[in-house]
Amino acid sequence: MHLFWYLSVFALLFRTGVLATAFDLLHNYSGLTFFSGWEFYGKWDNLTLGNVTYQTALLATEYQLVSVNEAGNAIIRVDNRTTVSVGERRNSVRLTSSEFYDFGSLWIIDLLHIPYGCSVWPAFWSTAPNWPDGGEIDIIEAINLATSNQMALHTTAGCTHYPQVNQTGYNIDTDCGTGSGCTVGIPANNSYGPGFASVGGGVYATWFDESGIFMWFWSRPDVPDSIANAGANSSMDVSTFGTPTASFPTNTSCNITQFYKPQQLIFDITLCGDWAGVPGIYDSQCYNAGPNHDCYLDCVVGDGSNYDDAYFEVRYVRTYSDRPVTPSTTGDPTTQTSQASPQPHNAAHSTRAEWRWWLGLPIAAICADMLLRLL
Ligand SMILES: *[C@@H]1O[C@H](CO)[C@@H](O)[C@H](O)[C@H]1NC(C)=O
Ligand SMILES: *[C@@H]1O[C@H](CO)[C@@H](O)[C@H](O)[C@H]1NC(C)=O
Ligand SMILES: *[C@@H]1O[C@H](CO)[C@@H](O)[C@H](O)[C@H]1NC(C)=O
Ligand SMILES: *[C@@H]1O[C@H](CO)[C@@H](O)[C@H](O)[C@H]1NC(C)=O
Ligand SMILES: *[C@@H]1O[C@H](CO)[C@@H](O)[C@H](O)[C@H]1NC(C)=O
Ligand SMILES: *[C@@H]1O[C@H](CO)[C@@H](O)[C@H](O)[C@H]1NC(C)=O
Ligand SMILES: *[C@@H]1O[C@H](CO)[C@@H](O)[C@H](O)[C@H]1NC(C)=O
Ligand SMILES: *[C@@H]1O[C@H](CO)[C@@H](O)[C@H](O)[C@H]1NC(C)=O
Ligand SMILES: *[C@@H]1O[C@H](CO)[C@@H](O)[C@H](O)[C@H]1NC(C)=O
Repeated sequence: MHLFWYLSVFALLFRTGVLATAFDLLHNYSGLTFFSGWEFYGKWDNLTLGNVTYQTALLATEYQLVSVNEAGNAIIRVDNRTTVSVGERRNSVRLTSSEFYDFGSLWIIDLLHIPYGCSVWPAFWSTAPNWPDGGEIDIIEAINLATSNQMALHTTAGCTHYPQVNQTGYNIDTDCGTGSGCTVGIPANNSYGPGFASVGGGVYATWFDESGIFMWFWSRPDVPDSIANAGANSSMDVSTFGTPTASFPTNTSCNITQFYKPQQLIFDITLCGDWAGVPGIYDSQCYNAGPNHDCYLDCVVGDGSNYDDAYFEVRYVRTYSDRPVTPSTTGDPTTQTSQASPQPHNAAHSTRAEWRWWLGLPIAAICADMLLRLL
């Protein structure tokens, strides 16, 4: 009776915990099909009160705010061709993934360029409907002439960031439920702005799980081979990624399942607004960007030459799940419409799961035996 109980518990631990680290591809947003699978906001930025109008898919394409370049990379940009007069907004884009990503998902983005410049406020992030109820994860977000990126969580009250976590970034704020969220700075000027672009960009990865939220940044020369060389059928293993840049484990001070719901990925670029345009903040880096010492008048108004660097160049966004996925979701980006919710088993995936289960048994038996001797 006891032996059976220990056997079951240990086998289950080894099955679900230690060894279950294989992630299979859900969606490969890249190349000419990059922009299928995203919704365009299509109205002015009434969310962060920036001086932009986010265009519809039709107009964003016509105005060349979204495109695929000769290298096959997706470009998402602020308009830099139009002269904007006082009282008008500049055109930009905000994309939201049609898919919702549940616990057990991994999002990998490979970029060559992140938007920057005075007044520019770009973000690659995720959130759930009814913000802030379902939480928010900021993967890439900075403003103006910042030289490094910040990662952050935003939640309802009660989620905090334990100071002594295993991460390479440094904590700026530790209360995820307040205005600025719990922010983690990256001590590297190759994580944003000209420093990021000058070495050919890099990769950001986010693991969204019941056990926590973990984010990694690698500059181009440091991208792990398992990511750099991933093929259409490669699975990912986060245990090979090394220490995260930002770690928010559930077991310390924020129960992720309580504060988070399935997430949609978002790209946006706004100008000025609630962060980049706040006078004291804007002034600290961009006071001399123009004669008015004002974000809107000195940057947004005018011929748009201020925005030549205000673009994302994205090689791909790949989403993975360590839960069962259907075979049709691997490889072909256009057939994937649903999300990481329970779906029929993929043969390869269940074979691996069974393999793990059986590997756990002998280890469990040894542990159970040792425990029984102690009792
Ligand atoms: C933004 O505008 C949309 C519709 O125009 C509205 O549904 C939404 O509530 C607005 N959001 C905020 C934060 O004002
Ligand atoms: C630009 O942003 C500022 C600050 O949020 C706001 O006061 C102003 O009305 C905005 N102007 C336009 C044209 O969007
Ligand atoms: C980034 O930091 C390195 C080392 O401190 C420095 O040599 C380099 O010039 C910096 N790059 C930028 C773009 O500031
Ligand atoms: C994603 O699609 C691109 C083509 O758009 C292809 O070159 C690449 O191998 C695919 N990657 C994966 C992981 O499926
Ligand atoms: C990926 O796996 C599918 C199904 O097993 C197979 O048909 C396809 O050829 C594989 N693609 C690559 C690039 O290995
Ligand atoms: C931190 O995490 C890394 C990678 O997951 C691991 O190798 C290392 O032992 C951890 N360090 C501590 C102090 O837990
Ligand atoms: C908390 O979880 C993290 C990541 O899952 C793990 O590395 C760490 O050892 C755990 N700490 C405790 C005290 O259980
Ligand atoms: C975490 O939150 C979930 C969902 O609200 C709840 O079921 C679970 O008991 C919580 N765990 C802890 C340790 O508080
Ligand atoms: C806009 O910026 C791009 C570089 O991001 C540049 O190639 C292009 O010439 C600019 N357009 C105009 C009209 O200046």
